[in-house]
Amino acid sequence: MKVSVVTGGTTHSAEVPDGANLVVLTGVRKFPHPHLKFKCGMGKCGTCASRVLEGGEHLPAPSAKEAERLGPRIAEGWRLMCQLWPQHDITISQE
Ligand code: FES
Repeated sequence: MKVSVVTGGTTHSAEVPDGANLVVLTGVRKFPHPHLKFKCGMGKCGTCASRVLEGGEHLPAPSAKEAERLGPRIAEGWRLMCQLWPQHDITISQE
């Protein structure tokens, strides 16, 4: 799948394996490193929160952890990337 991260007006894109967790990839310094911020990897800190600009229709419904951490931002398309294993092309931004 193709992953795109929009940051500072620039779009960074690369192919990653389908079903990969983007926080795990970043943690081992593969794309989307260095374009994705994260800390806990466990759905607790909210640092990995990202707004899904494209491809959100393919993601599962937000989990209880996401609902608790993101609150009203869920309605604006924000998700916790550490809690997702996307299977389809996705474009996200943390801004
Ligand atoms: S990295 Fe902490 S909630 Fe995702």
